[in-house]
Amino acid sequence: MDYETPQFYRVIQYARRADRDVVDMVSGSPDWDPPEGLREGLREYADLGADEFQYTASAGLPELRTEIAERRGVDRDCIVVTNGAGEANHLAMVGGLERFSGDEILLADPVYPYYAGRANFVGADVGFVPVDDDGHLTPERVREAASEETAVVVVNSPNNPTGAVYDEAAMAEFVAIAEENDALLISDEVYDHFDYTGRFASALQFDSPNVVATNAFSKSMAITGFRVGYAVFPPADGPTGELLERARTRHMIVNVTGSRPAQYAVYRALETTGPDYYAENRDRLQGRIDTFCEALDAVGAEYDRPEGGFYVMGRFEGFPGTFENVFELVDEAGVAGMPGEAFGESRREWIRFALVTPTVDEAAERLVEYF
Ligand SMILES: Cc1ncc(COP(=O)(O)O)c(C=O)c1O
Repeated sequence: MDYETPQFYRVIQYARRADRDVVDMVSGSPDWDPPEGLREGLREYADLGADEFQYTASAGLPELRTEIAERRGVDRDCIVVTNGAGEANHLAMVGGLERFSGDEILLADPVYPYYAGRANFVGADVGFVPVDDDGHLTPERVREAASEETAVVVVNSPNNPTGAVYDEAAMAEFVAIAEENDALLISDEVYDHFDYTGRFASALQFDSPNVVATNAFSKSMAITGFRVGYAVFPPADGPTGELLERARTRHMIVNVTGSRPAQYAVYRALETTGPDYYAENRDRLQGRIDTFCEALDAVGAEYDRPEGGFYVMGRFEGFPGTFENVFELVDEAGVAGMPGEAFGESRREWIRFALVTPTVDEAAERLVEYF
């Protein structure tokens, strides 16, 4: 697979050019509202003094880092606020390759394609570990694949694209594998508010010098356009302290700092948003998952009901997840999904559908009609 060129746009552009209306189930941008506190924070910001329109601390707005630190149970100084989870993953990967022995980054297959593109971009050797039949990366397979060549292992829970959620036992194993192989575990937790099992475990609970957790408000607050994410690094005075130091410097050299109004609005939203906001979004998605899975059942497709996140992968008999077939679905069914082949080898037969559209029921009907 060519991970150098993002493939999402290829499908989105094809769907836009189509001669009919198409339900977009490609992109991962939420279609619901952000918390009200976020809009209030933005309005407040407009009236702040000109001094507040200047750079904030490079590692992030101090009040925002305090809020994050309290929620994640970590020291505020370990947090770097980044330009989305994307930059957080980038800083963590580069730091891991540099600090730990080996040149290899281990990724799950199917993979969130930007991890693979980024690993190529930073010149790493990339190893893929196929998920099991239920879409889970198993500690056994990761342990088997890891070696002294491995510098970084990336896990993502809840997972894009399979919907897998890793519990405490699995996460403890992933941390142990990183420690045993002198490697860094990057735990991308950007969908943590979309766990439908109650079993999600953050890698941060293990307090290991071999762990960086990455996250963002892009999905949890429905603000992919704001670009506010963060990474939590091991403490600067610990054995892997240079990870934090180097990440802070790199973040500063590339960005100076992140967008201050966006960080302020997120900070105000964190202060004012209760658990109901997140619960409502989960409920909405679970309703959509029900609707969509019923349609998959109706057409006899194979699928795993997602344990978390926004995505469902389906396998349709005699209709593999190629770009060609996805384009055919756009033209003939009016539904755009992502071909499984864009995520690697192990799910080439599958198609991924993002449930972040209010017209999931329409898409479900169209698929039933088509198949
Ligand atoms: C697993 C995963 N990590 C990171 C990101 C990117 O997050 P952000 O928009 O905060 O950079 C996405 C976006 O779809 C994602 O699915």
